[in-house]
Amino acid sequence: MNSTGAGATELRIPQRILDASPYVPEWSGLNRTEFIRLDRNENTRPLPAAVQEALVRSIASWAVQSYPESAPIQRSLASYTRVPSEYILSTNGSDQGIDLCLRTALSEGDSILIARPEFPVFSHVAEAIGAKIEPVPYNPDLSFPYRAFAEAIASVRPSLIVLINPNNPTGSGIDIDYIEQIIASNPKTIVIVDEAYYEYTDNTVVPLVKEYANLLVLRTFSKAFAMAGLRLGYVLANPQILAHVRKLQNPFDVNQLAVTAGLAQLARTDAVRAECRHAMEEIKPYVVQSLLEVGVEVWPGSANFLLVRPPDCTKAVAYLRNSGVLVRSMSAPALQGSFRVSLGTMHEMQQFVGVFQSYLKEYRGSPSWLAKK
Ligand SMILES: Cc1ncc(COP(=O)(O)O)c(C=O)c1O
Repeated sequence: MNSTGAGATELRIPQRILDASPYVPEWSGLNRTEFIRLDRNENTRPLPAAVQEALVRSIASWAVQSYPESAPIQRSLASYTRVPSEYILSTNGSDQGIDLCLRTALSEGDSILIARPEFPVFSHVAEAIGAKIEPVPYNPDLSFPYRAFAEAIASVRPSLIVLINPNNPTGSGIDIDYIEQIIASNPKTIVIVDEAYYEYTDNTVVPLVKEYANLLVLRTFSKAFAMAGLRLGYVLANPQILAHVRKLQNPFDVNQLAVTAGLAQLARTDAVRAECRHAMEEIKPYVVQSLLEVGVEVWPGSANFLLVRPPDCTKAVAYLRNSGVLVRSMSAPALQGSFRVSLGTMHEMQQFVGVFQSYLKEYRGSPSWLAKK
């Protein structure tokens, strides 16, 4: 007998599942509500009153007791993205979009080309399918490896190409003309472009879905729209390829409260855009400047988060946590010794900077640090 129960080792479970590990985000199990949460690239602003009221109205009108209806959000997304609704499939978060698109494109033994370090859900799903990941390392300055990636397409001939723009955790953007060139020159290969952080960058390939049958774009309501806990995302693609993705989704995967909140958010996109501009043009420069002033290495990237390399990262992350601020330590070899911090409100970021500065003061004042110098 083992810890999973009598005879579990004799069950017919595929070897690749037996070999797989669960995806456990850092700080799982902690009561995160007690902290300033800068560890998951969430939006920490309060949910707007209009969205809260829509949710309350929806609950009062028996929305929760009925199976959900996702057609209205697809119509509203059509007007937001300026592509017809038959090009759009709403999903249970963008993670489900990744899962559906990878299962549509890949069989066991196929290969997926992606720049590394990447958003880990791609490799997590690919491994469960039994597909082989062909990673192309980001450049040492964390810029996208344009030439090496194009060369890898020619040499590996992957079954699926993934471009994350901008990437998480590096924040690196990819030139839109380069992406179009990859899509156009590989017409028989599906190209996924993940635009989870689109609202912070305004860079998109969405208009190209009308032109290219091999392009799938992924978006989410978890970031700019502050709905990570409700789980709403969408896939944009030509209806012919989307029809195949649709086959893998179950009928009621997108819940009604996500649809309700999504509709309320799409009714205030000007305000959402203004919030994103405030984050990128005021909050982010303040954080970057404050960290540079104290002599710490920073990669600002182009999304609502940045990478920081403090002296003794493990100590810094623990110090921040003990002072009520959660950030995410990086485990990818290329990023070891750094943590990712998401942009919260200006007030939260002032608190983060204050705590981080006192960490540096303590650390630099300690004899062990002086000895290392
Ligand atoms: C690049 C990228 N894609 C997809 C996701 C998943 O978003 P969702 O919350 O919609 O599943 C994230 C979340 O952090 C992300 O960073």
